[in-house]
Amino acid sequence: MNRTKPLSVHYRGITMPALVHSEQSVRYAQQDFIVRDRDVFNLTYPKSGTTWMQEILTLIHSDGDPTWSRSVPSWERVPWIEQITAAGYLEMRPCPRLISSHLPCSLFPKTFFTSQAKAIYMIRNPKDVCVSLYYYAKMSSFLEFKEDFGEFIDMFLAGKVLFGSWFDHVKGWLRLRDSKNVLLLTYEDLLKDLQGSVTRICQFLGKDLPDPAIDSVVQNASFSTMKENKMVNYTLVPESIMDQKVSPFLRKGISGDWKNHFTPEQSAQFDQFYQEQMREVDVKFSWDT
Ligand code: A3P
Repeated sequence: MNRTKPLSVHYRGITMPALVHSEQSVRYAQQDFIVRDRDVFNLTYPKSGTTWMQEILTLIHSDGDPTWSRSVPSWERVPWIEQITAAGYLEMRPCPRLISSHLPCSLFPKTFFTSQAKAIYMIRNPKDVCVSLYYYAKMSSFLEFKEDFGEFIDMFLAGKVLFGSWFDHVKGWLRLRDSKNVLLLTYEDLLKDLQGSVTRICQFLGKDLPDPAIDSVVQNASFSTMKENKMVNYTLVPESIMDQKVSPFLRKGISGDWKNHFTPEQSAQFDQFYQEQMREVDVKFSWDT
């Protein structure tokens, strides 16, 4: 990797990895991208289960048939709207298009808000997001990393990580939670009941799948199956960019791993910051499934 290039792109206060983003690509997503009524968006703050939802949406789209998810990389099946390669590529895709995004609500394509497009916003408890992001930064050559976990928590709470503050991201998107075109899910809900969650997603999308197809979605989107699928486990990415010997991309896939990383003091500091930031927000997480 060319270390003389800056690691990050900054757009309206949000930091993104320069490896796959540019100011132009994000401006295009926000200002020029035309959302279509049948588009389906997979919206997340990073490390909240984006890849998992990419797999689930692909499999639902294919009526449970895993051929597509085993032959095409996840980032091509459900590409990120804000990334450099998205523009021309997404315009050529037939409807319904499956599209991912980490953009905060304030930078989302303007045409989304007047469309009938559907969006699933998945949230994950932020202590686990912080741990997952720590390992992701450690194994990636394209992200800022602080070896000291305490310093990394400070960066996370200050929003000095990719896609900015978790708190702002979640609060921004939760404002749309009552829209009939937005489905709010938690990573922990999926962990507890993947079958029920897939059924809910199908209902939301108006997709009537028979039970064997639902079973296939659940089986093929399980952590163990995804870990073996090179079209989703990121082993196609060169080691110089993601070193999976340092930490696998599909790392643990559990809830509550924060307890193995936060000291009691760090946890209390995090909780206090959470209370201050989320005082007015009605959202419940399970912190330790
Ligand atoms: P961990 O690092 O805690 O293991 P994203 O796709 O947004 O980058 O999120 C990555 C996180 O989602 C990783 O968390 C990864 O292991 C987890 N994940 C991906 N697929 C999963 C699955 N099928 N079941 C549970 N967790 C999954």
